[in-house]
Amino acid sequence: MLVDRLAAVVLSPVRLLFFAGHFRYRSLVPSRSMTEKRPFERLPADVRPLNYGLCLRPDLVDFTFEGKLEATVEVTQPTSQIVMNCADIDIITASYVPEDNEEVHATGFNYQNEDEKVTLSFPSVLHSGPGTLKIDFVGELNDKMKGFYRSKYTTNYSEVRYAAVTQFEATDARRAFPCWDEPAIKATFDITLLVPKDKVALSNMNVIERKPYPEDANLVEVKFARSPVMSTYLLAFVVGEYDFVETKSSDGVIVRVYTPTGKSEQGRFALEVAAKTLPFYKEYFNVPYPLPKIDLIAIADFAAGAMENWGLVTYRETALLIDPKNSCSSSRQWVALVVGHELAHQWFGNLVTMEWWTHLWLNEGFASWIEYLCVDYCFPEYDIWTQFVSADYTRAQELDALDNSHPIEVDVGHPSEVDEIFDAISYSKGASVIRMLHDYTGDEDFRKGMHDYLIKFEHKNAATEDLWSCLEHASGKPIANVMNTWTKQMGFPLIHVEAEQNNDERILTLTQKKFCASGPYAGKEQPQWMVPISFCTSENPTVAKEQVLMDKPKLTVVLKDVQPDQWVKLNPGTVGFFRTQYSYAMLEGLLPAIRDLSLPPVDRLSLQNDLFSLARAGMTSTVEVLKVMEAFVNEPNYTVWSDLSCNLGILSTLLANTDYYEELQVFIRDLFSPIGQKLGWDPKPGEGHLDALLRGLVLGKLGKAGHKATIEESRRRFKEHVDGKQILPADLRSPVYVTVLKHGDNITLDTMLKLHKLADMQEERNRIERVLGAIAAPELIQKVLTFALSEEVRPQDTVSVIGGVAGGSKQGRRAAWKFVKDNWEELFNRYQGGFLISRLIKLSVDGFANDKMAAEIKTFFDSHPAPSAERTIHQCCENILLNSLWLKRDAEPVHQYLQQRTATTVKV
Ligand code: BES
Ligand code: ZN
Repeated sequence: MLVDRLAAVVLSPVRLLFFAGHFRYRSLVPSRSMTEKRPFERLPADVRPLNYGLCLRPDLVDFTFEGKLEATVEVTQPTSQIVMNCADIDIITASYVPEDNEEVHATGFNYQNEDEKVTLSFPSVLHSGPGTLKIDFVGELNDKMKGFYRSKYTTNYSEVRYAAVTQFEATDARRAFPCWDEPAIKATFDITLLVPKDKVALSNMNVIERKPYPEDANLVEVKFARSPVMSTYLLAFVVGEYDFVETKSSDGVIVRVYTPTGKSEQGRFALEVAAKTLPFYKEYFNVPYPLPKIDLIAIADFAAGAMENWGLVTYRETALLIDPKNSCSSSRQWVALVVGHELAHQWFGNLVTMEWWTHLWLNEGFASWIEYLCVDYCFPEYDIWTQFVSADYTRAQELDALDNSHPIEVDVGHPSEVDEIFDAISYSKGASVIRMLHDYTGDEDFRKGMHDYLIKFEHKNAATEDLWSCLEHASGKPIANVMNTWTKQMGFPLIHVEAEQNNDERILTLTQKKFCASGPYAGKEQPQWMVPISFCTSENPTVAKEQVLMDKPKLTVVLKDVQPDQWVKLNPGTVGFFRTQYSYAMLEGLLPAIRDLSLPPVDRLSLQNDLFSLARAGMTSTVEVLKVMEAFVNEPNYTVWSDLSCNLGILSTLLANTDYYEELQVFIRDLFSPIGQKLGWDPKPGEGHLDALLRGLVLGKLGKAGHKATIEESRRRFKEHVDGKQILPADLRSPVYVTVLKHGDNITLDTMLKLHKLADMQEERNRIERVLGAIAAPELIQKVLTFALSEEVRPQDTVSVIGGVAGGSKQGRRAAWKFVKDNWEELFNRYQGGFLISRLIKLSVDGFANDKMAAEIKTFFDSHPAPSAERTIHQCCENILLNSLWLKRDAEPVHQYLQQRTATTVKV
């Protein structure tokens, strides 16, 4: 099931989580209580930085760095101590020079390791006023992909080398230099890097001076222009070997894409997207990009998918590099989305920054919404908004229906709590409620409000309510009242609807109740939302006939001029963040519109998706959903298929616990065969992006489900590929690889590992890594797991190899979980408890479906705590219990249905 998602979209780590989260049901696990919060205090305000003069000298042989900080500060209250953030750094000397007075040396450096702070003590009181804080320090260029770290790469001559790079968000600038590492403490930066003279040195700003370093003839001193005031988490440095391609955007910004040496052409695609995107945002916000240059750079070892450092955006190689021949369509789309996302942050996040991490969702939710707007502008042929619903909207609803979800706005303190909120709620629910808001205000007022917000808070910080008040002002609508119901409470409503006909009027009765993955909400106080709801009819399925703001539990809506034979649908475009439960009669009326395609794709998709979740929640039967799925046999749309395919993947994982698994595979083969037949293996003239995605999806699905002709053709093409006779086009590689592996043996696996070794692009290596888990034999599964931790796999990609094993088969899931337990120390240490550890846990355990496993997982993590993954662990245990209930409830009726249908249909 993991592979289903992965075949469709090349995923970044954050997104991986959204595409992989699956199962739901009532939680028997107590929710986390607020008392578990770790003690935390923000930095005192008695000393504030104005400008950091920072010189760093990384040593790429010893993996250390030396640093010199000269920070202009303002003492606002007399004190004899300065408290700053500092972690994994040794301070050698520290002193304070008051303006017009003598230097005072600090007499003590008291490290509070747990709090990641240091207190510098001075022998006398530092008086109010300006001064300079000087600190000499040393640190390690670590291999943990955070702070100032080393990234390993191999040259064209197979020589292993290292680059020095940074990743500071959320709280790791403190690992590179002592600083006030909070988003609201902004200052300017004068950066100097001392680097080997043959290396590229980059930072947020343009180089203003590059000269020999007198003390060492092998080094040069590279000085960068002063930055605008900015938060520490947005600072970046890179020292290494890179090539680049360059252009100037129509609004005069110099754009470069840095690539590994010899691969600069792979930067072209991202360069074009970036050069189009900058003027697009300038125009959209009516605010120019504030820096003279922007660099986008591919970093070999990189934990996140990409990071929006101001003027120097860092990316995983797979989120930036495109090779015209060897990259698949989904990679192109992914690169476009990531570039669109990170460039949006240059305004929304960098120019105006959240006041505290509680408002992180605003940054990430907004960027995750506008990246689609930007890609829709650059590539209208991607039909990207339909993909939004399948990728973000439904993902968010899956997670948010759990008792262990959380409100979008959440109090956070300790760094581990900050790591925890880079999740589908901040990203995908955030993006979904912004999309709903944009629809509610209309584009014109929305843009006006955004512009006012960016101008009012530029170079400053803002909170969620600041954006609401700007939008309220621009639109004259009660934005804060409406939005608070979506961001301050977790969950979302299920709108139940019944209809009556009265002459030419359709009278609709709506009720709203919290939607829970475990069935009807059982709490005492029913949460309520202010829900913008629109309606359409068969007369004009794409245009809202009526719009209301539902601000109470029950509402009657009268639609005029609706004939008895017309259907009515809620939420055309699937913009409102709710699920809909139609009365039986209304649903019956809608089904023919799926079959004859008169319902638009996004609405076909969400109708099916709502029913599927209602079935999991026990509010309708899974058999009913299977019947509805059969109505999709004529479906032409990629995204609709992709959502169906994902849901069938979830069901397959569930039924893998029964003897009826094979019956479901027959169902899948029957459903996917006609479209597979129609598409064939080779692109036809005039086909586009979405046809390529659809072909890959369908062939992969058929192959995994055991469709004989697909397996045979996959084997044939794979052999030709391996023999070098006919190289597989990039779009066919994932489906062919997964098919031959699923039905393959040790020779297939070895061949695949050989291809992995020979691969020149990280995209190809990742493609292979993610499907290896499809292999069935237990000893081969072990081989894949061992490979996951080997030198062959980049540290950030180990997670998807293990996840692929867990998602590959039932045996694979057991083996992956055992492997995680057996190698816990190494894995935990590798990711230092960051967000990758949450992802690993989720991918490894989420598909289990029995109560014992939930208990086992809980016990394991009680004795092996992973603070940044606490909530994820609760969510996983909840999901497992829900799966178990679902299985008990629906497995038998599903079996009956499938058996009876298999007996009456011709097998493929
Ligand atoms: N600001 C994040 C990067 C980040 C993520 C830093 C987690 C620290 C922890 C960046 O803007 C981002 O959201 N990156 C995404 C890609 C995006 C297109 C969804 C990612 O890394 O997956
Ligand atoms: Zn982001």
